[in-house]
Amino acid sequence: MFGRTPLGRLLTLFLVFQGFVALATSNCTDKKHAYYPPKEGDSRSPCPFLNTLANHGYLSRDGKGITIPQVLDACQKGFNVAPEVLGTFGKLGLLTSSNFTFFSLDQLNLHGCIETDASLSRADNFFAPNNGNLNFNETVYATLASSNPGVDYYNITSAGQVMKARLDDSIANNPELVNGPREITFRSTESALYLIVLGDAKTGVAPKSFVDTIFREERFPDGWKKSETPIDGATVMPIAKAVQEASNWEATNGSYAGALEFVIA
Ligand code: HEM
Ligand SMILES: *[C@@H]1O[C@H](CO)[C@@H](O)[C@H](O)[C@H]1NC(C)=O
Ligand SMILES: *[C@@H]1O[C@H](CO)[C@@H](O)[C@H](O)[C@H]1NC(C)=O
Ligand SMILES: *[C@@H]1O[C@H](CO)[C@@H](O)[C@H](O)[C@H]1NC(C)=O
Ligand SMILES: *[C@@H]1O[C@H](CO)[C@@H](O)[C@H](O)[C@H]1NC(C)=O
Ligand SMILES: *[C@@H]1O[C@H](CO)[C@@H](O)[C@H](O)[C@H]1NC(C)=O
Repeated sequence: MFGRTPLGRLLTLFLVFQGFVALATSNCTDKKHAYYPPKEGDSRSPCPFLNTLANHGYLSRDGKGITIPQVLDACQKGFNVAPEVLGTFGKLGLLTSSNFTFFSLDQLNLHGCIETDASLSRADNFFAPNNGNLNFNETVYATLASSNPGVDYYNITSAGQVMKARLDDSIANNPELVNGPREITFRSTESALYLIVLGDAKTGVAPKSFVDTIFREERFPDGWKKSETPIDGATVMPIAKAVQEASNWEATNGSYAGALEFVIA
């Protein structure tokens, strides 16, 4: 197209190459991991991140017939979170199913297994007999969404404040609240995970728009890239501890004892 001179040929080659690059970076060539919202009958969980992985085809898009190795592999491929961080969640996830091998995302909603009260984006089981603790709830999420006012990021301080506010709400209104060491361990780990996976792994500072997109839309946020270094236990532990400290947590009542080491074994 640029004539027969050597420079013309070079330019043509360059433009063709640019075309390949553009194709490779658009959603068109990566249909396998393009975002599609769930269809009627698909299974989704109380976990915004697992739902995101299903919506992008890292987990089966129908959210059914999932195994522990599959879920750990998906978390690694989609978010670069190492299996050592999530192994216990994965195993507990399988406990929610009567099948020895497979579980569906909606089964993870089993109250008291991984599913806890005082979640960031779901109502407590007590208020939610019809899967209200499974589905995203904007009223609940408003506490997180309005945290750290005046800046465009969430951090350890705001994450701790949100956890405290959500727990205070449950203490005041949920007569069946379960709030022991096991619950705070899970909740601290989850808050640390959204900061680290969507933000800076060392400082725990995460852009609000990334966090809000995952929670509200369950898709990879525009402009977000997964961490280049694997997010392992040594990365998550200190942030989870700091978030828990910032939340000023005290046990009210709850289940059996646990520590952060229990989750990140
Ligand atoms: C990259 C991996 C993962 C990340 C970043 C992540 C992050 C989160 C976050 C931030 C929450 C809190 C949601 C809220 O409070 O509203 C959550 C909840 C949950 N996650 Fe995940 N998660 C991951 C993997 C997993 C895995 C592997 C499982 C189990 C197979 C799991 C099961 C759950 C469940 C059952 C909840 C609901 C807890 C509750 O709030 O009651 N997650 N997760
Ligand atoms: C890829 O899909 C996302 C989510 O729908 C969208 O926001 C983004 O603009 C798409 N990118 C391209 C290059 O089409
Ligand atoms: C588990 O599910 C698979 C696939 O549906 C089925 O073939 C198998 O029989 C089930 N096993 C048990 C113990 O229910
Ligand atoms: C959302 O959460 C609020 C506050 O807990 C609750 O009143 C409302 O019923 C929930 N909505 C749904 C659809 O569960
Ligand atoms: C989090 O951000 C707020 C608002 O900028 C700031 O006051 C607070 O010190 C930050 N927390 C940490 C741990 O940096
Ligand atoms: C926690 O306390 C509430 C209210 O006193 C009670 O209904 C609930 O059964 C208690 N839960 C546990 C696990 O002790």
